[in-house]
Amino acid sequence: MRYGHFDDERREYVITRPDTPLPWINYLGCQDFLALVSNTGGGYAFYKDARLRRLTRYRYNAVPPDQGSRFLYLRDDERTGSSPECWSPTWQPLRRPLDAYECRHGLGYTRIQSRCSGIESGVQFFVPLGEDLEIWLVALTNHRSRQARLSLFGAVEFCLWDAWDDATNFQRNLSLGEVEVEPGVVYHKTEYRERRDHFAYFACSEPTVGFDTQRSAFLGPYRGWDAPLAVEAGSLSNSIASGWYPMAAHHVRLTLDPGERKELVFLLGFKENPPDGKFDPADSHVLNKRGVRPVLDRFLQVSECRLALSDLAAHWHDLLSGLQATTPEPHVNRMVNIWTAYQAIVTFNLSRSASYFDTGIGRGMGFRDASQDLLGCVHMIPERARERLLDLAATQLEDGGAYHQYQPLTKRGNNDIGAGFNDDPLWLVVATAAYLKETADWSILDHPVPFDSQPGTESPLYEHLRRAVQFTLNRLGPHGLPLIGRADWNDCLNLNTFSSTPGQSFQTAPVGEGRIAESVFISGLFLLAASEMCAIALHAGRSTDSEVLEAASRAMREAIWAAGWDGEWFRRAYDSVGAPIGSRQCSEGQIFIEPQGMCVMAGLGIDDGRARMALDSVAARLATPDGIVLHAPAYRSYHLNLGEISSYPPGYKENGAVFCHTNPWIMIAEARLGRGDAALDYYLRINPSAREDKSDLHRCEPYVYAQMIAGKESPSQGEAKNSWLTGAAAWNLVAVTQWILGIRPTYDGLEVAPVMPSGWGGFEAVRRFRGATYHVHVTRIGAGNDLQLEIDNQPVDGTVVAPAGPGAEVQVVVKVGALAE
Ligand code: GLC
Ligand code: GLC
Repeated sequence: MRYGHFDDERREYVITRPDTPLPWINYLGCQDFLALVSNTGGGYAFYKDARLRRLTRYRYNAVPPDQGSRFLYLRDDERTGSSPECWSPTWQPLRRPLDAYECRHGLGYTRIQSRCSGIESGVQFFVPLGEDLEIWLVALTNHRSRQARLSLFGAVEFCLWDAWDDATNFQRNLSLGEVEVEPGVVYHKTEYRERRDHFAYFACSEPTVGFDTQRSAFLGPYRGWDAPLAVEAGSLSNSIASGWYPMAAHHVRLTLDPGERKELVFLLGFKENPPDGKFDPADSHVLNKRGVRPVLDRFLQVSECRLALSDLAAHWHDLLSGLQATTPEPHVNRMVNIWTAYQAIVTFNLSRSASYFDTGIGRGMGFRDASQDLLGCVHMIPERARERLLDLAATQLEDGGAYHQYQPLTKRGNNDIGAGFNDDPLWLVVATAAYLKETADWSILDHPVPFDSQPGTESPLYEHLRRAVQFTLNRLGPHGLPLIGRADWNDCLNLNTFSSTPGQSFQTAPVGEGRIAESVFISGLFLLAASEMCAIALHAGRSTDSEVLEAASRAMREAIWAAGWDGEWFRRAYDSVGAPIGSRQCSEGQIFIEPQGMCVMAGLGIDDGRARMALDSVAARLATPDGIVLHAPAYRSYHLNLGEISSYPPGYKENGAVFCHTNPWIMIAEARLGRGDAALDYYLRINPSAREDKSDLHRCEPYVYAQMIAGKESPSQGEAKNSWLTGAAAWNLVAVTQWILGIRPTYDGLEVAPVMPSGWGGFEAVRRFRGATYHVHVTRIGAGNDLQLEIDNQPVDGTVVAPAGPGAEVQVVVKVGALAE
C-alpha cells in the first residue's frame, strides 16, 4: 500500500493523504537556519544548533503527534451561530476532513495544497538561500460562486532558546518570556535584556486586524492547538506575553470574490545583533531592529519570495547535476539522481542531531558520523567538506583520539554522549582521503589545526591524520588486534562497560581500562585508513611514514588471519576475557556483518577465496528480503559482558536489525569480487523507493533511508525506524555510484570501472570532477566484467581517466564483458 507517489520530473514526493503511518518529513534550509517540516506542517526551526538556538517548540511524545510549529487556521466568517466553520489548510492541527489534500516534498521546500468548502489553499514552506528565515507563502482561491469572507490566522509557539532547558526548567522559564510588537510583526526576545544578542520574529505581509503573543490568551483555558478559542471566536485579544508561553499569532481578514486568488506571506526569522548594538536607542531595552527591517521589506513581498524560490531550485539543480545516471533500474535512477544525494546533504548538515527520532536536544555532530556523511556529498559541496574536515580535526585530542561529538554552535568537542570509541579517529583519515581524491586540494594537509580547540596547539592537518592512525597502533591487544575501547562503529558493542544499573547510559557509563577486548572491525578499518594514509604520505613526501604504515599493515593482516578469521567468515571481536565474538563457537551472535564488509573493502581475502567465503556466509546467514541484518542469531538475554547490544529485544537496533548503514559495505565487497548481481540485489532490498509498495509495513518515508529496518528475529520484520539522519545515505550512494556504476575519484583521476549487473545492457552517466564534465557511456558487449575504455574516441589502458582540467567535456566510452569468440 502507498500513501503517495514520486514525481521524478519535478523531483518531488507527492503525499496524497495526510494520515501517513508516521509524519513524513522534509528539511528546509541549507546552512545556518534549518527547519523540519512534516506533511501536515509540523516540525520546528532552529539556527545552527537544534538544542541551543531553537526558535519554535516541539512537543516530544505528544499525542496526537506532530502538532506544531506552523499553525494555520482558516475561518469562514460568513457562518454565524454556534458552529463556526474552521479548518487547517495543512490538515493539522484542526484535522478537519479536507475535500482535497496533497503534500509535495521537494528539494528544500514543502508545498501543501488543500481544499475545503470551496476554498483552495496552497502553502509553500522554504528557507531562502543565505537567509536566516523561513517563508510560508500562502495562496487562497475562492471556488465558490459567491463572495467569501474569511479569517486567516498564522501562528507559531516560541521555544525559549535552549530546547532542553525549555522542556525541563519551568520554575525559571515561566517567568522569563518577553516580546515586542509592531504592526504585523511580533518579536520574541526572551533573555535578550541579559546575555542573549539574538531574537526571533514572526511577520505577516498583509494588514492584520489583531495579534496574540500569550499562548493562554490565544488557546483559552484547557484547550490545545487543535481547538484555539480565539480562532473559534474569530478575534484575537492583542495579548502581550510577560512570562508564561510567548507565541505569535496574526489575524488577517480577507474578502475573496468568486474565482479570486490572493497570495500573502508569513515569515519566521532569526537575528543576531552585535553585543554593543543590541538596543535602539542604546540606553533603552528596546530591540535594535535596524537589521531586520530591510529583510522584512524584501521578503514580505510575494514577488521576492518567488525569486528566492527559483534561486533555491537553481541551487539544488546545480548540486545534483554533479552526478546524474540513467540506468535500466528506475529505483537506482530516482535515488541516485535525487533523493539519496539530497538526503546525504541534509545528513551532512545535521549529523544525527535533529529528526523526528533524534530530538535535537541529545546529540550534536558525531565525529565518525560527520566523517562518513562527508563521503556522500564531497562531490557536491567540496568547500563545505573542507571546512567540516578542519572543524572535526580541531576537536581531535593530542593523542590522536577524538571526542565522540561536538556541538555545532560552539564547534567544541565534548563527552556528553560518551567517549572512548576507538574507531572514531580513523574515520577522519577516510574522509580526508575522499576529499583529496575528489578535489586534489593537497594544500589542506598543511592547514594549521589546533588540538582540542586550544589556541597555540596548531599543527598541520597531516599531523592530525598521522596521529589518528597511530592512535590505533598505540592500542593493540593480546592478539595484536586493535583494542575496542568503549565500542567501535557499533556503539552498542560495549565490551568494557559491565553495566548493571537500570537506566544507566551505556554510552556514558564508566568504562574499564580495556586491555583485552579487541575489535576485528577496527582492524579492517585500520587497513583501509592506513592504505589511504600511505598514499597521502607518499604524496606529501613522507616516505618514512608510509614505510612504517606498510609494515604495521602487514602485521595487522597477519593478526587478522591468525585471530580474526573463523574459518568461513571474519570474527567480530574478542571480549574482556579474550573469548571470541562472532564465531561459530558462540551460541548467539555467531556472525556479524561489519567485519565481513570492512575487511573485504580493505582487500582481505580477495585473492585467496576467503573474501568469497565470508560473503557467501553473509548471504546464507544474514541476508533477508528486507536487507542484511547486523548479526545472527540475535541475543535473547542481557549479557553483562556485551553491553547495550544485548539490551535491545532481538531484531531491533544494534541487536540484529538491518542497519542500512552497513549493507552498502557488503554491496561494495560484492562489487570488489565482481559480483554485480549480488551488489544490486542487496542495494534494492533496502532502497526506499523499491519498498514504496510496502509503505504500510515499512512505515517511514519512501524517499529516504531509515537507520534501521526491524530484523528477522523481531515481531515486526520489515518495519523501518529512525528515518533521515543516517550514514545509510552516504554509504548507499557511494556503493551504487562508485562500485556498481564504478565511477569513483582516485588520487590520479576519475576511475570508471563498473561492475554491472548481468541483466543490464549498459547505462549513461554525467559526472563533474575537478571542474571537468565526464560523459560516461557504458555498454555490455559480453558476459563478465572485463573493461575496455575509450576516452574521446582513443582506446586507453586501464580504467583511470586523467584529470582533464576545468571546463573540459570528456567522453568516456566503456565496453563491458568479454567479446564473444
Ligand atoms: C548510530 C550512530 C553511529 C553508530 C551506529 C551504530 O547510527 O549515529 O555513530 O555507528 O548507530 O551503533
Ligand atoms: C544508542 C543507539 C545507537 C546510538 C547510541 C549513541 O546506543 O542504539 O544507535 O549510536 O545510542 O547515541
